[in-house]
Amino acid sequence: MAQPSQPAIVVIGCGAIGLPLAVALASRGASVLGIDADPARVADLTAGRTALGDSGLAEALRTGLEEGGLGFSAVLNTAPDERAYVLAVPTPARADGAFDTGPIEAAMAAVSAAARRDELVCVRSTIPIGATRALAGAYASAGLMFAACPDRSVAGNAYAEQFSLPHVVGGLGDTAGVRAAAIFAHLGTVVRAPDPETAEAIKLFANVQRDVSFALANQFALISEAAGIDLAVVRQVGAAGFPRFSLARPGPVGGPCLTKDIALLLASAGLESVDTRLLSAARSLNESLADRIAAAVETELAERPGQAVAILGLAFKGTPPTGDQRGAFAAALCERLVGRLPKLDLRRWDPVAEPPAGRAAAVRRAGVVVLANDHPGLAIGLDAELSADAVVFDLTGLVGPGAGFASKRFGNGAAPTRS
Ligand SMILES: NC(=O)c1ccc[n+]([C@@H]2O[C@H](COP(=O)([O-])OP(=O)(O)OC[C@H]3O[C@@H](n4cnc5c(N)ncnc54)[C@H](O)[C@@H]3O)[C@@H](O)[C@H]2O)c1
Repeated sequence: MAQPSQPAIVVIGCGAIGLPLAVALASRGASVLGIDADPARVADLTAGRTALGDSGLAEALRTGLEEGGLGFSAVLNTAPDERAYVLAVPTPARADGAFDTGPIEAAMAAVSAAARRDELVCVRSTIPIGATRALAGAYASAGLMFAACPDRSVAGNAYAEQFSLPHVVGGLGDTAGVRAAAIFAHLGTVVRAPDPETAEAIKLFANVQRDVSFALANQFALISEAAGIDLAVVRQVGAAGFPRFSLARPGPVGGPCLTKDIALLLASAGLESVDTRLLSAARSLNESLADRIAAAVETELAERPGQAVAILGLAFKGTPPTGDQRGAFAAALCERLVGRLPKLDLRRWDPVAEPPAGRAAAVRRAGVVVLANDHPGLAIGLDAELSADAVVFDLTGLVGPGAGFASKRFGNGAAPTRS
């Protein structure tokens, strides 16, 4: 039921981030209107359908619709009562690395046309440092309040994490901060940042830290391969003997966020004099994995002329399971393989998007099989479906001892083993 003391909330952009937030707020009694530019998505959501597989989301969506506190529309109209607006539209980087402001400007144009003076705009999308203040300046004539309220949920669990993770809120002015905090307090703990820039930086620094720490692990993986040692053993023995040595697991890095958030950080105003090569080098090392693995697969195929290659795990990550294939390593690897070997018989299978039986068809008589994400289902029972002479490229360490087939684990400089 709607709480009359709280303004109705309009969430602009009902995708991977906006929808879980809209549904979560409605489940806590807020009156929520979801706006999306895609009419087909609006029709699906209005009928209670979502392709997002986040745990608990689909059920809560249908409950919100049935109880009447939640609705969707492709058009944002004016309203007689006070509302607050949450921007959750895409914030991509263009090919040249610049921040593509198109979607957020389109969303702000719609909000400023429908909103009344003093209403609050919360920017949930990930944006460069200073972008919330820049939006406030660009739409100053509308007299709106602004706060940066970045999302830190994980794909696959984004609905549940609306309640379990704290919400960082950085208001442009104290009143905006207090009002934004009141909205997110519907869901759980709120952590106030002193200003929007601090909140924007927390989001970007958190994601860039992950990208860079994966790049460091991948750099050590390449060194380990060249040095003939196994990085998994280095991590295991090192953690036991060097208590302050903690290294991320090496492997593919992809997804809708990490592939572009370094670009968004570097698009922040005022960085011209800052040396940011560390960040660019980290990103390009992570991106280079697709080429490196494609080259290794090609080398392996030279000993197996004419044999097929199967790529298993098409989502950008496997744990927690997600159907999200945006920015996924598998797609980049397939593109590189087709570029190198245009006549290659290339098969693909994903454990979330496709039935389990599809894996056997994908790997049948394949000479090389690549486990391209960390979904545990990729390797379980695989030995029964593989050709006897197939080799498995295990990019995330899924294959344990006794698997019963030949495998090459990324970061292991030892020769292939038959375990
Ligand atoms: N996906 C994640 O895991 C994640 C996590 C944290 C933050 N973010 C950030 O959240 C933001 C949204 O990402 P997402 O993954 O939810 O994107 P998405 O592509 O899943 O969803 C965006 C939605 O916005 C709609 N849209 C686009 N322009 C619009 C407009 N002008 N008006 C109304 N609707 C519009 C699209 O139709 C789409 O449904 C981005 O800034 C992203 O960086 C994403």
